[in-house]
Amino acid sequence: MNTRLTVNDTAFASATRLEPDRLQAQRDAFLADTTAVALLEAMPGAAMILNRHRQVLLANQQLRETLDPADADRVVGMRPGELLQCVRASERPGGCGTTHACSQCGAVGAILECLSTRKRSTHECRIRTSGRMGVGAMDLRVHASWLPIRDQEYVVVAVEDISGEKRRAVLERTFFHDLLNTCAGLQGLAEMLASEQPDLETETSLKQDLTRLSSLAVEQIQSQRQLLAAEQGALGVQVGRVDVAELIASQVSLLRHHPVGQGRHVELENVRKGTLHTDPSLLGRVLTNLLKNALEATPDGGTVSVSAELDSDDLTVSVHNEGVIPQPVQLQIFQRSFSTKGGEGRGVGTYSVKLLTERYLKGDVQFVSNDRLGTLFVIVIPDLARVEHRLAA
Ligand SMILES: Nc1ncnc2c1ncn2[C@@H]1O[C@H](COP(=O)(O)OP(=O)(O)OP(=O)(O)O)[C@@H](O)[C@H]1O
Ligand SMILES: [Mg+2]
Repeated sequence: MNTRLTVNDTAFASATRLEPDRLQAQRDAFLADTTAVALLEAMPGAAMILNRHRQVLLANQQLRETLDPADADRVVGMRPGELLQCVRASERPGGCGTTHACSQCGAVGAILECLSTRKRSTHECRIRTSGRMGVGAMDLRVHASWLPIRDQEYVVVAVEDISGEKRRAVLERTFFHDLLNTCAGLQGLAEMLASEQPDLETETSLKQDLTRLSSLAVEQIQSQRQLLAAEQGALGVQVGRVDVAELIASQVSLLRHHPVGQGRHVELENVRKGTLHTDPSLLGRVLTNLLKNALEATPDGGTVSVSAELDSDDLTVSVHNEGVIPQPVQLQIFQRSFSTKGGEGRGVGTYSVKLLTERYLKGDVQFVSNDRLGTLFVIVIPDLARVEHRLAA
């Protein structure tokens, strides 16, 4: 008799699951080992026991307490991403581990590696979540250990939430690196003004640089404050009538003086004139992140182009740079803490773009990257006054 339920739909890990009676028998066999059960419950963090098909047989108390109450009673047979409400888990009928993007997931990676090597495997994993528990993101460290008991094999999966660690790294980078650099620049300019006797032209230029650098310092602090508030759902949206061309021009001008803009050009193509009701500060933050990424991916002397279309309902802004983003990188864009740029505390740019655009500005962000088009990020932002009007009607 075939004891497995076969769903062949997968773009990565096997989608096969055990039939309920076989699953229950496996769970009972594990529960019979009271020492193993006691050790699972004694683990200080969230942990679970999986079978070869990556299905949960048992979750410890710490894990059950973090789950959506509706799932806590029916964990058996689910996969880790389904328990944690990873957005990928509901994309294909096979569930967690079966999408193309799952090939980059540290949790599936650790479990598969552990099963094939029969050794402990640890990987970091970033997931975006959605479901009854709300939209969010988690940075996890996943440890998978092989556990043979009699004729059965199990995988013990311990999950450490390292979101706090990652957030601290972002704050440290901003405050100890970026902001310190800006303040050192401000200090140098102030010293020049105080000690030298500059002619009128030099003095004017030093004052302009002082104004620019102090705006950058304020911008760097505000960006952190907004991100922290946005993640906690505590960010207030301040809707105003925004002159689109003026807002885009001012973000571009800020970046011309930023280190990432040095030696590169930003070209404004077809930026339509007009106004839109939205939050100028949040939209500015989204644009800055997109522009910074495009500039960072552009070689010295290269050009980033920006265009903006405006109709009665929406603003569409496109940011283009040459070059193609490799496929494994494309699969992880928008995930918190994912970065190819090295160093701790990076990987919040595209994540903030998605969070601010979709959750606060009620818009949409997409990207395309291929040989024909290069790399193009597109945001569509609705007029929030019209959205409110429609909702009230
Ligand atoms: N326009 C782009 N062109 C090429 N690669 C890009 C582009 N935008 C994003 N990426 C890739 O996506 C990764 C994630 O981008 P993201 O903005 O989230 O983080 P980051 O730029 O690495 O760090 P941070 O924004 O926190 O300084 C980048 O490291 C880069 O590899
Ligand atoms: Mg970035």
